[in-house]
Amino acid sequence: MYFIVVLLYLPAVAIAQSLVLIGGNLKDDNVGIWTTMIEKAGGPGVADIGVIVASSTGNAEGIKAVDNFVKKYGAKAASIVSLTKESALSQEVANNVENYTGIFFVEDSMESNMIDILRPSGVDTLVLKSIKKVIDKGGMVAGDSAIMGDSVMILGGDSMNALVLGTKFEKSLSGTRSPLVYNKSGGLGFLKNYVLDSHLSDQGREMRLIRTLLDSKNLPNIGTAKGLGVDENTALVVSNPLSKPIGKVITADVSVSGVFIVDVSNVPAESVAKATYDQIPFSFFTVNDTIDLTTEEVIYANWKIPIAGEEWFADAIPSFDIFSSEQPSQWRQTNRRLIDCKEVNVTCTTISSVFPRVQVFFDRLQAVGFGADIPNDPAKTYVASFRNMLASIKPIE
Ligand SMILES: *[C@@H]1O[C@H](CO)[C@@H](O)[C@H](O)[C@H]1NC(C)=O
Ligand SMILES: *[C@@H]1O[C@H](CO)[C@@H](O)[C@H](O)[C@H]1NC(C)=O
Ligand SMILES: *[C@@H]1O[C@H](CO)[C@@H](O)[C@H](O)[C@H]1NC(C)=O
Ligand SMILES: *[C@@H]1O[C@H](CO)[C@@H](O)[C@H](O)[C@H]1NC(C)=O
Repeated sequence: MYFIVVLLYLPAVAIAQSLVLIGGNLKDDNVGIWTTMIEKAGGPGVADIGVIVASSTGNAEGIKAVDNFVKKYGAKAASIVSLTKESALSQEVANNVENYTGIFFVEDSMESNMIDILRPSGVDTLVLKSIKKVIDKGGMVAGDSAIMGDSVMILGGDSMNALVLGTKFEKSLSGTRSPLVYNKSGGLGFLKNYVLDSHLSDQGREMRLIRTLLDSKNLPNIGTAKGLGVDENTALVVSNPLSKPIGKVITADVSVSGVFIVDVSNVPAESVAKATYDQIPFSFFTVNDTIDLTTEEVIYANWKIPIAGEEWFADAIPSFDIFSSEQPSQWRQTNRRLIDCKEVNVTCTTISSVFPRVQVFFDRLQAVGFGADIPNDPAKTYVASFRNMLASIKPIE
């Protein structure tokens, strides 16, 4: 009798559960991400994927995703599950959803219908419960990283507003610049202890993530000091997200994009009032790096080597609009250069007609960098990863 119980129990724990956090703007030709989603949902010829659409504008995207999964990348099947507030409560829809081996949330606008429909008032609907069963049984769940967490969910805002004005809970501030708004009820709840964001480097969202963490880290139950943001057309594939999360960075074939991780545990909250922040430690991981999201241990892709002592450039290049949401990836680009040059710090500034100018200092004295040219890339694109870079920020008097 005992023996039978063990046999029944074992397969359930042996299967890896997979969460795919996508940084937005996933391209149809991103072989790495599409094939990983299929593999984690059972593999080609087995994967049966439910494509969740929660808005009328998402339908075309949904059809394209089904086409990619089945025709382009070899899933056995994929079908659209178009949800409304009513159908998300339906037992019949929930039963159907439970039988998929993978779930893909179609990218949503920042006014996220997905949350309103699947988790109204912060409570899981029947369909969301079924989606959680899919992953519990060893399946795959993928979607825009910004909506996937258990912690507060950022709804909108840019870094400059975040730095100077801080966060609001309601979408009430008017004006052309977009205020930082987050929701205290959290996202869909597939990963704990991180505030998540997407389009990270591409839209210069580093500071809005940092400020959200500083403003919310002491909230009861939901507060956390750790943040994680994924770049566009990039994914962090997280195995066992709710028990022992380990993430691997996947990008397009030749790409310097990656995943930004920050921890504000030791940054005093009073720094916020003066828009003066001291020594915020952050890291950036690139293609095929593996990060243990509990211990923060990192295994760099095996072809990357330590940068220390082998820095390529003489000098760092400051950015004159470090929080820019229009000029892409200023923060990423500045730090990629800094980790690979002989100087140890760089001072950047902002341009803003509305706010006081600020200076941002990056310091790599305590940082560890790993990098190399991407293997088999004729253009020899160099990618760099690093951990424990320090950012300090203060207004220019
Ligand atoms: C789900 O799969 C099981 C086992 O294959 C099957 O018996 C059941 O009818 C399926 N449910 C639905 C709603 O398709
Ligand atoms: C926050 O999310 C909850 C749960 O989905 C929802 O009821 C509430 O309206 C949201 N608040 C804002 C300001 O979006
Ligand atoms: C990353 O890992 C995958 C799977 O192991 C491999 O196919 C791919 O070539 C690797 N990419 C790079 C740039 O090393
Ligand atoms: C930057 O580093 C240099 C040493 O390389 C040091 O002299 C300088 O004071 C540092 N600047 C700042 C603003 O930390």
